[in-house]
Amino acid sequence: MHVAIIMDGNGRWASRRGLPRSAGHVEGAKTVCAVVAAAARAGIETLTLHAFSAANWARPPAEIDALMHLFRRFFVAETPRCVERSIRIDVIGRRDRLGKGLLSAIERSELLSAAGSRMHLRIVLDYSSRDSIVQAAARADRIATLAPEDFYRLLDEVNHCALSAAPVDLLIRTGGEKRLSDFMLWEVAYAELHFTDCLWPDFDEQRLQIALDDYANRQRRFGALTARTG
Ligand code: IPE
Ligand code: IPE
Ligand code: MG
Repeated sequence: MHVAIIMDGNGRWASRRGLPRSAGHVEGAKTVCAVVAAAARAGIETLTLHAFSAANWARPPAEIDALMHLFRRFFVAETPRCVERSIRIDVIGRRDRLGKGLLSAIERSELLSAAGSRMHLRIVLDYSSRDSIVQAAARADRIATLAPEDFYRLLDEVNHCALSAAPVDLLIRTGGEKRLSDFMLWEVAYAELHFTDCLWPDFDEQRLQIALDDYANRQRRFGALTARTG
């Protein structure tokens, strides 16, 4: 089972408390740690977490700095815990615009956690699905007859994804917005969508379970007349 989450609502969580937006991101990072542990307990095989979109570079530099600092801290602090729990970390997205310190923390996390087999944790950073599709399409003329699986491989290649993941089964978006915001447009083709008003810092194991229960009650037909598994 592949669950992807658009972790939205950190800024509003902070604003409602009269705090700077960066305080929401700090709280959101704590939620990431809790949800990673909860997802592993729930037996989820692949967890993809959207942390920063290519469009998020349009935010004020101070907010971007705070986020980049948090990302680096996350990789440094969480890698040993992930290794301990056999969780493999992969980072999806562009890498050429990330700072050197963050980049080396990412490479270290990926290397140290590469043997993890309990859960595949994919952190999405500096990512645009449309840009990825355009880049993959530009590489596609190398392949004579292109099957969807080949295109998946090309998408993995442009996003530096070391280990391919199955298509997304369940996409959760917190924060109340009902849109995809240029996230995994190809990969969610047949995903079940779960939108919740809960702001990301308030998301927890119980809310993850609610989303999983919602998913379990869906009938996936993939165009046929009876339920299918994929
Ligand atoms: C999601 O929360 C985190 C990132 C996009 C990095 P937001 O920062 O978008 O929070 P809201 O949507 O403004 O509340
Ligand atoms: C999507 O949230 C990106 C992440 C959660 C990392 P945004 O807050 O950037 O999306 P929009 O601007 O509301 O579409
Ligand atoms: Mg937002």
